[in-house]
Amino acid sequence: MKVMIVGGGGREHAIAWAVAKSPKCDKLYAAPGNAGIAELAECVNISVMDADSLVAFAKEKEIDFVIVAPDDPLAAGVADAFLDEGIKTFGPRKNAAIIEASKAFSKDLMKKYNIPSAAYETFESADEALAYLETQEAPYVLKADGLALGKGVLICNTLEEAKAGIQEIMVDKKFGEAGNKVVIEEFMTGREVSVLCFSDGKTILPMTSAQDHKRAGDGDTGLNTGGMGTFSPSPFYTDEIAKFCEENVYQRTIDAMAAEGREFKGVLFCGLMLTEKGPRVLEFNARFGDPEAQVVIPRLKNDLLDVMIACADGTLDQVDLQFEDNAAVCVMLASDGYPVSYEKGYEIRGLENFKDKDGYYVFHSGTKFDDAGKVVTNGGRVIGVTALGENLVQARANAYKATELLDFDNKYMRHDIGKAIDEQ
Ligand code: AMP
Ligand code: GLY
Repeated sequence: MKVMIVGGGGREHAIAWAVAKSPKCDKLYAAPGNAGIAELAECVNISVMDADSLVAFAKEKEIDFVIVAPDDPLAAGVADAFLDEGIKTFGPRKNAAIIEASKAFSKDLMKKYNIPSAAYETFESADEALAYLETQEAPYVLKADGLALGKGVLICNTLEEAKAGIQEIMVDKKFGEAGNKVVIEEFMTGREVSVLCFSDGKTILPMTSAQDHKRAGDGDTGLNTGGMGTFSPSPFYTDEIAKFCEENVYQRTIDAMAAEGREFKGVLFCGLMLTEKGPRVLEFNARFGDPEAQVVIPRLKNDLLDVMIACADGTLDQVDLQFEDNAAVCVMLASDGYPVSYEKGYEIRGLENFKDKDGYYVFHSGTKFDDAGKVVTNGGRVIGVTALGENLVQARANAYKATELLDFDNKYMRHDIGKAIDEQ
C-alpha cells in the first residue's frame, strides 16, 4: 500500500523508520519530511497545515493510508479533510484532538468523568483570574488554554510572578489566541511519566512508558523546550501504578470522549504525575510525543503500520501489543542558543557512522539538504540520537557514546538525560 506521513520532525522520522520496514508498505511519502526522512520516503514540500494541497496530493498519488502526526494539523482538522474524502487516516478528528488543543476542555472532561487530575478553575477575564490568585497559595500553575508549542504553562513561585503571568498570557497575548482562556491549577509534586496509548475509539492499548526532559539545561534548569531527551521505560511506572491508570485513566478517558460524541482514534498521550496521593493527569496530547516516539517506537515488537491501521479500522481489540524487554535513551542534539535564538545551516558530519549500526538510530528533527546536497542544521532541535540497551543505565551509556559520532558547529546537548535512573 501507499502511505503518507504528514510532518517533518524526529517523531515523524521514527514513525517513517517503522512504517518503511512494514511488508505492507510499498511506497512512502512525507509532507514535508526532512533530510533524514528523505532516505525512507519521497518528501513533498507541502505545509502540514495546507489541508487542500495535502488531500489533492494524496488523491493524485492514490495514497491508501495517511498518518497525521503533529498537534497543529490535528487541532485544525487535517485528519477530517482526509477522512471526509474517504481516505483512511491515523489521527483523531478535530472534535477529538480538542483534548489537547483546549486545556479547559480536557480539565472539564476529567472533572465530569472523575479522571484523577489537579483541582482547577478556568477564567476568560484577566480581572477574575487576578482576583482568584489572591485567594490561592504559592506556587501557582497557570496554563494558557490553547496550543502554545509546549510553552503555555507557567509555574510561579510568588503572587507577583503569577499576576505578571496572567498579564502576559491574557492581556499581552504572548501565546496569541491560546491565551483567551486560562486554567489556574493546584500545584502538585512527584515524578512525571508519559504513557502513550493507541486507541480505535473503543479499545485502548497503552504502550511502554517514557519520560521527557523538557528544560534546556542540565539539572532541569533554563527554559522549557520541545524536549531535550527521553528514556523508556520509566522505572517509576510500576505494575501497581499501571493497573491504577488502566482502571482510572486510559479506558475512562476514551469512553468519556465516545460518550461526548468525540470518538478518539489515534494516539492518546497521557502526561502523568505520580503524586503521594496517586497518579494524576497533567495533560493529554492527541498524538505521539516528540521525542517520546524516538524511544518508544524502536522498542515496539509489532508492525507499527498494522497497529495504526487497526486504530483506523476499529479492530484494535485484535492486536496483541508488545514491546522488547530492553530500554532506550534519546539524547537531542540542538543548536546552541535554543530555544531562544540560534543559527542554522551548519553541515552535520558523521551520519554515515550510524549506517547498519544495530541498536542505534539517528532521528532528524531540524535538518535539510543544502544546495550542494549536504545535510545541514535547520532548526533548534537538530537530531536525536537513540540507543537501545539491556537496561536504562546501559542504554544511556550507549546513547552518550553515540552522540560523539555526530558533529556540527554550535552542537549543544544536555548531559543528564535519564540521570534519575542512576539513583535506582
Ligand atoms: P503540561 O503542558 O500541562 O504537561 O505542563 C508542562 C509541565 O508543567 C509539566 O510537565 C509539569 O512539569 C508542569 N506542570 C503542569 N501542571 C502542573 C501542576 N498542576 N503541578 C505541578 N507542575 C505542573
Ligand atoms: N515531548 C512532549 C510532547 O511531545 O508534547
